[in-house]
Amino acid sequence: MNEARSFRIPPLVIMGDNACSHVGQEGKRIGGKKALVVTDRNLTGIGFLLKIQASLRSEKIPYEIFDQVITEPAVDYVEKGLDVYRREGCDFIIGLGGGSPIDTAKVIAVMATNSGSIQDYMGLDKIPNPAVPLIAIPTTAGTGSEATIFAIITDTRRNVKMLIGSPFLLPRVALVDPLLLVSCPPQLTAATGIDALTHAIEAYTSLKTQPMSDLFALSAIRFLSGNLRQAWANGANLEARALTMLGSFQAGVAFSNSSVALVHGMSRPMGAYFHIPHGLSNAVLLAPVVEFSIIGNPRKYADIARVMGERIEGLSAIEGARRALNAVREIIRYMKIPPLSALGVTRGKLEKVVDRMAEDAIASGSPNNNPRKTSREEIIELYWEAFHQNP
Ligand SMILES: [Fe+2]
Repeated sequence: MNEARSFRIPPLVIMGDNACSHVGQEGKRIGGKKALVVTDRNLTGIGFLLKIQASLRSEKIPYEIFDQVITEPAVDYVEKGLDVYRREGCDFIIGLGGGSPIDTAKVIAVMATNSGSIQDYMGLDKIPNPAVPLIAIPTTAGTGSEATIFAIITDTRRNVKMLIGSPFLLPRVALVDPLLLVSCPPQLTAATGIDALTHAIEAYTSLKTQPMSDLFALSAIRFLSGNLRQAWANGANLEARALTMLGSFQAGVAFSNSSVALVHGMSRPMGAYFHIPHGLSNAVLLAPVVEFSIIGNPRKYADIARVMGERIEGLSAIEGARRALNAVREIIRYMKIPPLSALGVTRGKLEKVVDRMAEDAIASGSPNNNPRKTSREEIIELYWEAFHQNP
């Protein structure tokens, strides 16, 4: 028997060069009278915001800018942004940036119409009222937040990364513009790109997978694995940039409708305890976790090998699955992702918190979706592998 499943994707996606210049037109179409633009101060200096401002001005839409999202998204930013939204009488939100400003924008959009505190809505489907309209404009090819029903917000007081999932977090419009990626530096290109690749691999092999998300996951793996290295080596390669951004969007659609799994469960505590950015945490964990997990569903990992360009004809499912591991390792090695020990984490620091990290990883629920069941001890071992491993 097939379980009935829903499949969600933003109702409008505009993708391609200068897609971000449609923001004014789209704001008008959704009935917006005044926008709150949520972004990162670093982006205001490099001209992205000018395009957004020009487009809003041409449609005579006034706006306020909240550019205080400078690190991983946190409760504080949402509260400050919400104050500006209310004080200035805004009625829709534009999230411009990487995952942090977009996730912050998403949560401001739901807190504008829901009472109580953000903590009340942690988990899945806890938000009662629809959000105000949100237009998401990514400037990295990584989180896929423009395509998902999820947001991660750090509760800095409790040192917890809260996962919030609700259909009301899905942006009304996604403007996916590869020209915004051109100035993304190589290290960020690598970390965010591997985050996207991880979304697709985890969505495809998750126990919550479904045929519609599989379609997006395999396509994302093909685009990302085929173009990430080129985009990393030469940021001005517009074709590679466009295809990684397409892959990142598709990976977002895939995991939003399937789920992430063990890598994401384990990477969130790395962010909380060591302040390692999300993409880099995933990049450090991906190879050890794939190696551990392939036995849970070799056939699906063999499919992954195939779309990554590996020859698997005549091989057994397990042999084919091992090719996926080789292909993942090759990408990680090529883009010089360091082991955890080279990211400011000492043996002593890891020893002190690794037990709690494993507990937090399990508590996130994501490891339950992994194709291979994982014990607390195995998670601890995997953290140590990520610590030592130089892929
Ligand atoms: Fe992620």
